[in-house]
Amino acid sequence: MKLCIFISGRGSNMKAIHQHCENGVLKSIAQCELVFSNNENAAGLEYAKSQNINTACISSKGKKREEYDTEVIQLLENYEFNFIILAGYMRILSEKFIDKYPRKIINIHPADTNKHQGLNAYRWAFENNLKETTITIHYVDKGVDTGKVIAKKAIDISSAKTVEELEKIGLKAEHQFYSNTLKELLKTK
Ligand code: GRF
Repeated sequence: MKLCIFISGRGSNMKAIHQHCENGVLKSIAQCELVFSNNENAAGLEYAKSQNINTACISSKGKKREEYDTEVIQLLENYEFNFIILAGYMRILSEKFIDKYPRKIINIHPADTNKHQGLNAYRWAFENNLKETTITIHYVDKGVDTGKVIAKKAIDISSAKTVEELEKIGLKAEHQFYSNTLKELLKTK
């Protein structure tokens, strides 16, 4: 299965998925066809280039949502892929984009999507003194973090004394859980 991974910044989830494709749980199951970013300064693009993964970037600065997504759809016509994997992609997708790829866009949200949607989920968990938070992998629909849940995983964050520590624990779990979940999902396709 070919994956098209969308990032906006650091890209640590993208990197983890790529490494799992190369030598981990996604080996012989999936491969990274393209890493796409809306931000030309996304650090993850450098990693992708260093690994000879196809990369593409269209800056979204100042562009209206649908106009921008129309350009992205045009760009994606040049690639063949089975799924679009959002990994820290910081833009809400337009209805046009979602309708174009039904049940093909997947996202990871670092909280239970019933309890917290949108940005800063680890800060939210920290400020609410949660002992556990739930990472959610879901299909993307027209709402923000409202799509059908594919898998959830509760993680123990009780040892975190700062939000940075909490995020570190969370990201480590995300890096394994995203690929494990994709493996299970792709097996059924
Ligand atoms: C992750 O916490 C992810 O769950 C959220 O945004 C963050 C992206 O981090 N959607 P990275 O770019 O993958 O390092």
